[in-house]
Amino acid sequence: MITTITLNPAIDQTIIVDELKPGEIHKVKIRRMDVGGKGINVSKVVHVFDGDTTPIGYLGMENRYFFEDFFQAHGIKYDFVLVDGATRTNTKIIDLSKHQTTEFNEAGFSISKDDVERLKIKIREYEPDSKYMVFSGSMCQGSYPGLFGEYLDQIGDNNKIVIDATGEILLEGVKHQPFLIKPNINELKATFGINSSSLEDIIRAAIAIRERFDIRWILLSMGANGAALISQDLVLMADAVKVDVKSTVGAGDSMLGGFIYAYDRFADPVEAFRYALACGAAAATTEGTEMFSKEAAMDLRKEVIIADMTSIYV
Ligand SMILES: Nc1ncnc2c1ncn2[C@@H]1O[C@H](COP(=O)(O)OP(=O)(O)OP(=O)(O)O)[C@@H](O)[C@H]1O
Ligand SMILES: [Mg+2]
Repeated sequence: MITTITLNPAIDQTIIVDELKPGEIHKVKIRRMDVGGKGINVSKVVHVFDGDTTPIGYLGMENRYFFEDFFQAHGIKYDFVLVDGATRTNTKIIDLSKHQTTEFNEAGFSISKDDVERLKIKIREYEPDSKYMVFSGSMCQGSYPGLFGEYLDQIGDNNKIVIDATGEILLEGVKHQPFLIKPNINELKATFGINSSSLEDIIRAAIAIRERFDIRWILLSMGANGAALISQDLVLMADAVKVDVKSTVGAGDSMLGGFIYAYDRFADPVEAFRYALACGAAAATTEGTEMFSKEAAMDLRKEVIIADMTSIYV
């Protein structure tokens, strides 16, 4: 099973207007509310492929049913620590005239010491049946420096740890020799202080980071420029699949979901990388974090072209 851990989930609200003008009244063309949270998004993708997944983490008691109804309607198992308050709503306003997205992210609920203990117990409970434990996104209010490491300390086998996070969280995470990290290019540069903007320099820096922290795989996403996959003896690169882009929000989460699902299913990094690119592109074709279909992803999978760059870098 693939367990995902979302420490700071969200409801993703997408509002579409013709043109966003501060201080004025707008007519809303479309408003949609999607179950969000980066780990939950990963589970949604694994589930699209009929993979076995359980999202866990924290959920606010007040609006728990928005999430629980969704999981039940889609037949997704779930097991969250319920905390006081409501899960936050993150709002994205899309301006059609400028093709611009403006985001408003709420702070959300705050966790207590007891909530932390309850989640640690859950993480320990889930480890034995989990092939991978995917930690995605930010930490909620009430968290403290070092807490992310404490969550990871609950896991006996570091080879199960997958991290999609940035900054301090990622720096703490890499101390646990994770199986995989999935930074985007900005997150990689900011977290590890890479100044160059040459792709070759960035790949070489990623190779050095992988070696230094003994990370099995780095899946480096580069938005519309595609992605790279790096291990001790493999460097793969691929351009993004050309698609009609609606919203790239959550493309990285989908990419990670596709990769982990396929790696688990086929035990083949090249195939997993292909799924990753297909799912990232598929996510870009849907509004907000709305789910794509398995068929859509499988069609895009055929268009992924992977270049083996190992001999250049290793
Ligand atoms: N415009 C696009 N066209 C095609 N594929 C895309 C596009 N944007 C993203 N992708 C695919 O999705 C992958 C992940 O995207 P990106 O690097 O933007 O992730 P991210 O910044 O982590 O996103 P998020 O955190 O919002 O999920 C890319 O590597 C690429 O394969
Ligand atoms: Mg991301």
